[in-house]
Amino acid sequence: MNPSFFVIALYLGIASAAPKLDGSLEARWHQWKATHRKLYGSNEEGWRRSVWEKNMKMIDLHNQEYNLGRQSFTLAMNAFGDMTNEEFTQVMNGHQNQKHKRRRVFREPYIAEIPPTVDWREEGYVTPVKNQGQCGSCWAFSATGALEGQMFRKTGKLISLSEQNLVDCSQAQGNEGCNGGLMDNAFQYVKDNKGLDSEESYPYQAKVGPCKYRPEDSVANVTGFVDIPAQENALVKAVASVGPISVAIDASHLSFQFYEDGIYYERHCSSVDLDHGVLVVGYGFEAEESSNNKYWIVKNSWGETWGKNGYIKMAKDRNNHCGIATAASYPTV
Ligand SMILES: *[C@@H]1O[C@H](CO)[C@@H](O)[C@H](O)[C@H]1NC(C)=O
Repeated sequence: MNPSFFVIALYLGIASAAPKLDGSLEARWHQWKATHRKLYGSNEEGWRRSVWEKNMKMIDLHNQEYNLGRQSFTLAMNAFGDMTNEEFTQVMNGHQNQKHKRRRVFREPYIAEIPPTVDWREEGYVTPVKNQGQCGSCWAFSATGALEGQMFRKTGKLISLSEQNLVDCSQAQGNEGCNGGLMDNAFQYVKDNKGLDSEESYPYQAKVGPCKYRPEDSVANVTGFVDIPAQENALVKAVASVGPISVAIDASHLSFQFYEDGIYYERHCSSVDLDHGVLVVGYGFEAEESSNNKYWIVKNSWGETWGKNGYIKMAKDRNNHCGIATAASYPTV
């Protein structure tokens, strides 16, 4: 959390009267605090509750719209309920939004027919959902996800890889630990370093520490990486022919913070201002016939309690929604 933001919030809490709270939400507030083991100082609680109430009301309103058929996805209260959207994006979204050097460009493979659905989880390419905690290390989780898949493809063994190794050691490649990074820089690090440790040998800490890479614990190698042209019809070929693909998206909206289920479509989403690294593990479509029934299956790194068991279905073939195809890439092994 940005300390100055916090100080200002407290200051306002003193300057104006205590925030008006909705007594009818009392029981739900206590339930939520218990579920997520929240403890606040007496100065902080009123402010946190007012943020939570605002989020709760926004979620209820959105879900009413869903019931009227005006939204394609539902929202749910979750562990991020007492965070404003500004705090949340600052803490959780760590994809550097910058043009990076493009190395190898994806040469579209010859695929006779693109399958209507793909789900690499069913083929054993994908490890369980992980949790980045309050650290802007999404880029590291996206990168390990893609590399875990490619190593599985090569060796037939699915081994969880160390995000902490990337967070602690890839500064020279341009990454900034908990303050952001790029998946391609992470792939470059593994190539330069000639290895990446396993999750088990180098566990996640959600904060930057000294580099403790040990070559004897390395379980992966990278020979390079491939950038996919910024079009969904190129991304679909890559997902169908390669495996899980690292992508960057605009995840800066409250609707993303509280996503629960359904096909995510946020009309304020940007295709160029990307702040979050995630992993596309497949794609599919809803049973109802409609022009808006297709989705990408996206693995997030906010634990299994966020979204649909840690996953989100994001609108597919709707004009590169949230920039899902803008900065897609994968490592070669
Ligand atoms: C990675 O490559 C290095 C050098 O090319 C090799 O010594 C090492 O065994 C490889 N590691 C794995 C896990 O394949």
